[in-house]
Amino acid sequence: MDDRNFGKYIAEEWIQTIEAPAASVREQDIYPLLNEWLDHVPRQTVLDIGCGQGVCCLQVCKDAFYIGVDPSPALIHRASSLFYDDHRSFILGNAYALPLNDHSVHAAFSVAVWHLLEDKEMASRELSRVLVESGKFLLILADPESYEAWTNSYKEVHFEGKRFVGKRESQDGSISTDVLYLHELSEILKWLQNSGLAIQETKKFRNMIAILGEKD
Ligand SMILES: C[S@@+](CC[C@H](N)C(=O)[O-])C[C@H]1O[C@@H](n2cnc3c(N)ncnc32)[C@H](O)[C@@H]1O
Repeated sequence: MDDRNFGKYIAEEWIQTIEAPAASVREQDIYPLLNEWLDHVPRQTVLDIGCGQGVCCLQVCKDAFYIGVDPSPALIHRASSLFYDDHRSFILGNAYALPLNDHSVHAAFSVAVWHLLEDKEMASRELSRVLVESGKFLLILADPESYEAWTNSYKEVHFEGKRFVGKRESQDGSISTDVLYLHELSEILKWLQNSGLAIQETKKFRNMIAILGEKD
C-alpha cells in the first residue's frame, strides 16, 4: 500500500474520536492506568507504538524522552505540529519493523493498536527487540472476552477467520471502515512470551484489557 494513503480513514476517524468531548474512556480509565505504569518505569526512553496524533505524549513527564511511532503520515504530521518539543520525537514507522535500534528503549506502550494488527507475533518480536533487558511494556487493547461487544457496534460486518471488517458511523455522521484482528488472549500472550517478554499482570476495564510485563 502507498504509505501516503496508509490508514487515511482510520486517521480521519481517530482524529475526530480523540478530539471529541465524549472521549471519557481516556480520562477515566486509560490515562490513570498509563500514569500508574509510567510512575514505575525508568524515566529514560519511552516508546509509544501506534501513537496516532500523539495525545498520549502528554502523559509522559519531561524527564523521559518520548518517541511516538505511527505508519500514518497524516497522524505523524499532526502529532508533530501539536506536540513537538525537544524531549519528544514523532517518527513514521510500523509495529512490524520499528525504526529503532536493538535494546534502545527502556519502556514501551501501545494504546488501542494491538487489536488492529494482523501479525501480532512479528509485532511482539519487534517490541522485544527494541527493549533493553528488564525493559517494561504496557499494551492496552480490545479485550478478547468482549469482542462481541466490539463487533456489535459496527454495521455491514464481515468475518473472515480472525479478520473482522465493519462500518461505523462517527459522531459527525461520516462512515468509516475498521479492520480488526480478533485473536484469542492465549495467542496474544503466547506470542509475547515466545518473544522473550514476561507477562506480569493483566487488568480489564470496560471492553479493554491491559497487558503489563517486562523483557526477560
Ligand atoms: C485507534 S488509533 C490509536 C492511536 C493512539 N495510540 C492513541 O491512543 O490515540 C490506532 C493507531 O494505530 C495505528 N496503526 C495501525 N496499524 C499499525 C501498525 N502496523 N503499526 C503501528 N501502528 C499502527 C494507526 O495508524 C492509528 O494511529
